[in-house]
Amino acid sequence: MISRSCPALSRRQVLAGLGATLLSTPPSASFANAQTDKNGNREFRLVARAGTEQIVPANHPPTPVWHFGSVPGPEIRLRQGETARISVTNNLEEETTVHWHGLRLPNGMDGVPHLTQRPIGAGETFIYEFVAQDAGTFWYHPHQRSFEQVGRGLYGAFIVDEKEAPAFDREVTLVLDDWRLMPDASIADDFGNIHDKSHAGRIGNTVTVNGRLPGRLALRSGERLRLRLINAANARIFALEFSEHRPVIIAIDGHPVAPHTPDDGRIVLAPAMRIDLVLDGLHRPGSRFAVHDTAYPSLESQLFEIAYDAQALRPSVPEHDVALPDNPLPEPNIDDAVRHDVVFSGGMMGRVEMTEMRKMIRRGLAWMVNGVAAEGHVLEPMATLDVNRTHVLAMHNQTGWHHPIHLHGHTFRVLRRNGKETRYREWQDTVLMAPDERVDIAFVADNPGDWMFHCHVLEHQAAGMAGVIRVA
Ligand code: C2O
Ligand code: CU
Repeated sequence: MISRSCPALSRRQVLAGLGATLLSTPPSASFANAQTDKNGNREFRLVARAGTEQIVPANHPPTPVWHFGSVPGPEIRLRQGETARISVTNNLEEETTVHWHGLRLPNGMDGVPHLTQRPIGAGETFIYEFVAQDAGTFWYHPHQRSFEQVGRGLYGAFIVDEKEAPAFDREVTLVLDDWRLMPDASIADDFGNIHDKSHAGRIGNTVTVNGRLPGRLALRSGERLRLRLINAANARIFALEFSEHRPVIIAIDGHPVAPHTPDDGRIVLAPAMRIDLVLDGLHRPGSRFAVHDTAYPSLESQLFEIAYDAQALRPSVPEHDVALPDNPLPEPNIDDAVRHDVVFSGGMMGRVEMTEMRKMIRRGLAWMVNGVAAEGHVLEPMATLDVNRTHVLAMHNQTGWHHPIHLHGHTFRVLRRNGKETRYREWQDTVLMAPDERVDIAFVADNPGDWMFHCHVLEHQAAGMAGVIRVA
């Protein structure tokens, strides 16, 4: 699946740094730079700029990155129902925007350059303001040249707390990413090359959790931990296997799901997806367990280690319901739904003829949605949806590659995969489609505007795998 090799830090060099970092939630913007104004709105400030991060161990040089002050950027956190006012200052040398991935907000606050706002020019500031309608785990990232801006480190967690705090002992946010690093620890600057665009996207050679080489996750015997996982990678899919633990999925893409453990125990996160887990401290103080990433057989590796404290919190984990309260999402009315067929095609080794592929590739494109390879963000809508009606997108991935498909402004239910009803009818905003898979999603189009609909492998998005869905 991964065919691009790249000068890398040797495995031995990388291993030398393992175990050094203790994983904890990234610095919070709510403490670092948030204020509450006189109307009770929460104010945050983000500055996008070039900087450096010690991604690999300190016996290597720091990595020049683009970030919101740190990688990940400050965690934005507020309570459901509160209004966020976020001023974003662009100190990059190019335009940017910030998209609040998964949050249902007014079209003008969605952060898509040219489609929903004028891009924020170098030196300019834009203020985003919206109500956090849904509790859950979300994230933010630029939508301008995102394959490079996100790839260089511009992203952060956006957490909306439930109105009443659920009964967990503790919670930790883990933002997963990967990087394509050169031997001097700098980022390989081959962003947007046509090979990545037409194959699996930019898969890096160095995986990080919260911007550092993965280390240990502290847990206590008898403790009930909420883990918020966010995949901020351009293209890498993660599949986590927790040895001797059966973490329970309680939310997908921020939204509650019937608590369950996947049949094979693997926690799969495609790019842009989030999963909230309950991890119970079932084992003896002082014990250690590996968490492996097994998404790509050739790249299988230990992601981090669960390290039990020497002291137990209590003799056993408390027995209480871990289900989260529902978010106020409009329930699709399937009996009265309008159906729209969506076909994804293109990519190497797919059904599109080589002569046609070559023509696209000369324009830096490789993928199509309903036969159109998109360029930029301002597009003729691929579909216009009647507002406040239920719509089903019947999607077919006619390519030989995986694609996490993301819709802005709405949250959909995943109804069927290859004609078979899903067990949990998950609410998601990004759904992973396997090669040749058919996935049906449904939602009430209750948010007027022009919304992006695209693959979240950022190189695929840049290579045409995008469209605009108009709700009017
Ligand atoms: Cu996370 Cu259109 O983006
Ligand atoms: Cu894709």
